[in-house]
Amino acid sequence: MAPIYSRIIATGSALPERVVSNTDLEKIVDTSDEWIRTRTGIRQRHIAADGETTGDLAFLAAQRALDEAGVKASELDLIVLGTTTPDIIFPSTACLVQQRLGANGCAAFDVNAACSGFMYALGIADKFIRSGQSKKVLVIGAETLTRMIDWNDRETCVLFGDGAGAVVLEASSEPGIHATCMHADGGYKELLWNPVGVSAGFKDEPNHGVRIKMAGREVFKVAVKTLDALVDETLQAAGMQASQIDWLIPHQANLRIIEATAKRLAMPMERVIVTVDQHANTSSGSVPLALDYAVRSGKVQRGQNLLLEAFGGGFTWASALLRY
Ligand code: ACO
Repeated sequence: MAPIYSRIIATGSALPERVVSNTDLEKIVDTSDEWIRTRTGIRQRHIAADGETTGDLAFLAAQRALDEAGVKASELDLIVLGTTTPDIIFPSTACLVQQRLGANGCAAFDVNAACSGFMYALGIADKFIRSGQSKKVLVIGAETLTRMIDWNDRETCVLFGDGAGAVVLEASSEPGIHATCMHADGGYKELLWNPVGVSAGFKDEPNHGVRIKMAGREVFKVAVKTLDALVDETLQAAGMQASQIDWLIPHQANLRIIEATAKRLAMPMERVIVTVDQHANTSSGSVPLALDYAVRSGKVQRGQNLLLEAFGGGFTWASALLRY
């Protein structure tokens, strides 16, 4: 039997309307536009309005991807949504989005892999298609990370933003996704986490103790080292050379981490998609937002090879090498 591949047939994204610049943050915490730009590459972030949820952004991004694909929601046989900031505890945000799209009946679930959520979701969806289980899959990465930020903590509050991106994957006789890789190491959990919840309990603190805690310098070091190994592994899994990659579409957390990965691949920055300046770190939203920008701006063309990767809390890290 001929192999089945999964192909991205369309992309979509959504950002909240409200933009908060680095200069705006100078009024809230002891920071400066210069510090944020030089340490991270971030210039601004989008922040969800009161009442605007992860599901709202996911729904918009999904609608845009489905419109672009010319695929009706009723044709979907799976929705996988990467998020670490679901609207409510249950049902999953994937189920909430499914209902709003009118895709009722297909399988739908969330994946929590922190910033690697979309890459995990994409890897899972690829396997559903390759196994013959699914033919048309909606993969979403969506977050409202600013809901769990401590706006008094300058070490974290300048880094994050809200947003969502989506892709429609379809079964195809042509690749498609060549390879996906997924990893985790819970031994690093305390370097980047939000250690309260339903089962562990909440705290008698502002926002019930819900806030991101991060050892930034340590996260930075492990991220760079781990992503170096990940891109090597992904190339090997796909049987390709770095010189065959047309575009690197990395997790948008920090420009310096992105530059280090590009250097590892000997890729000039002109072939790296950078959007972190526009929307900061949107966790699971980051890679699909960057991909949608790359496609809609005309940078990425059909037939080109793209290397997508992410790293986040857990730690988790994951990648995909695909022909667009
Ligand atoms: N404004 C001004 N000064 C600040 C700020 C701020 N917002 N935040 C920290 N500083 C100060 C520190 O207090 C420190 O001061 P000190 O020297 O007097 O002690 C100084 O700046 C330098 O701090 P460092 O932590 O050494 O700065 P670094 O160059 O490591 O940059 C950063 C910090 C941006 C957090 C970096 O370590 C980083 O990006 N780490 C990765 C974190 C990340 O991206 N996490 C997201 C999830 S994981 C992922 O997506 C990869």
